[in-house]
Amino acid sequence: MNTILVTGGLGFIGSHTVIDLVKQGYSVIIVDNLSNASAKVLPVLEELSQKKIPFYPVDIREKKELEKIFQEHQIDAVIHFAGLKAVGESVQKPLSYYDNNLISTITLLEVMEEYSVRKLVFSSSATVYGEPEKMPLLETDLTGATSPYGRTKLWIEQILQDLCDANDAWDVVALRYFNPLGAHKSGDLGEDPKGIPNNLAPYITQVGVGKLEKLHVFGNDYPTSDGTCVRDYIHVLDLAAGHRAAITYLEKEHCRYEIFNLGSGSGFSVLEMIKSFEKAIGKEIPFVVDSRRAGDIPVSYADTKKAEDKLGWKVQKTIDEMCADAWRWQKKHPDGFEP
Ligand code: NAD
Ligand code: WQD
Repeated sequence: MNTILVTGGLGFIGSHTVIDLVKQGYSVIIVDNLSNASAKVLPVLEELSQKKIPFYPVDIREKKELEKIFQEHQIDAVIHFAGLKAVGESVQKPLSYYDNNLISTITLLEVMEEYSVRKLVFSSSATVYGEPEKMPLLETDLTGATSPYGRTKLWIEQILQDLCDANDAWDVVALRYFNPLGAHKSGDLGEDPKGIPNNLAPYITQVGVGKLEKLHVFGNDYPTSDGTCVRDYIHVLDLAAGHRAAITYLEKEHCRYEIFNLGSGSGFSVLEMIKSFEKAIGKEIPFVVDSRRAGDIPVSYADTKKAEDKLGWKVQKTIDEMCADAWRWQKKHPDGFEP
């Protein structure tokens, strides 16, 4: 397999994965409707990879437009990142999430079927584990999403399972990511959330550059070692390598439908993350403790054995590297891609 279509390839995880794939010799085509990405990411990707990358500014719900891409290129596999991803926003705007995430996936699958491209890597999320009872989280554990966003991931996983059950020619890998952060080593590619960040890492780095006054720690009365929530943070470059490993797996195995956790297997608390960022930034991060955020679970971390055994993949980067890389990007580009 040589040619990979990457949907959502100008977004945070997609863009880092594109660099990784191009570096490994794959031809990559990007489709992204720019709803949550800047067109300025493309020249950065081309500069960092020293390759011209075909890009289509298309909403993948537009079937005719998507078909044109499949007509113009001999695509071997698709990595499907495109989707809306903010949990809180999905509670406010459920229909947007169901429309965007579900319709785009179904349209993509229909077009793939039409052009006999039946190898897919799908971006799922640890959010599908809902409110788990035990750690670490295994791929076989019970699922149960608690937000419209999470439900789109769960339902898409079910759609993919049904598709593979119905047609033996499909091979699909769903990757359940834990908490991604970090950035490309150059400091020229990184996470660029629109508005006030929902996630911990970009919030802290924006406090670091002075765009936000202080961090609000959501609760310090959880049953954890320091009272703050514990998460499994993963460097976006490790995540990118995980997608490459999934593509290699699809090249070798007729796997039908497989789910893999992509995480580090270790948990860090919010206060530990603040400490690691303070080391990277070289100054204190001011914070206040607020009440708990609705929907947060106390602890979440992955069992990564399946990915290690079958994909031959495990994380390489430490929390300190994640924080240092996230900070390098934020410091160099305080206003992201669109100053
Ligand atoms: P992102 O928003 O940076 O990237 C998604 C990209 O998809 C954006 O560039 C957006 O413009 C594009 N897009 C959205 N809808 C589209 C459509 N209909 N047609 C074409 N393009 C469209 O998000 P990310 O952090 O890179 O996440 C990538 C994927 O991974 C998402 O599916 C997300 O749900 C999933 N995921 C993310 C995280 C996380 O914390 N970042 C964790 C688990 C899973
Ligand atoms: C991490 C920890 C917060 C912000 C989310 C999605 C999940 C997945 C990854 C897509 C929590 C605390 C945060 C802040 C804080 N995305 N926090 N102050 O909630 O674990 O996961 O992103 O699939 O679906 O839910 O990540 O970065 O928002 O929070 O104290 O300003 O940091 O309470 O404990 P989360 P997060």
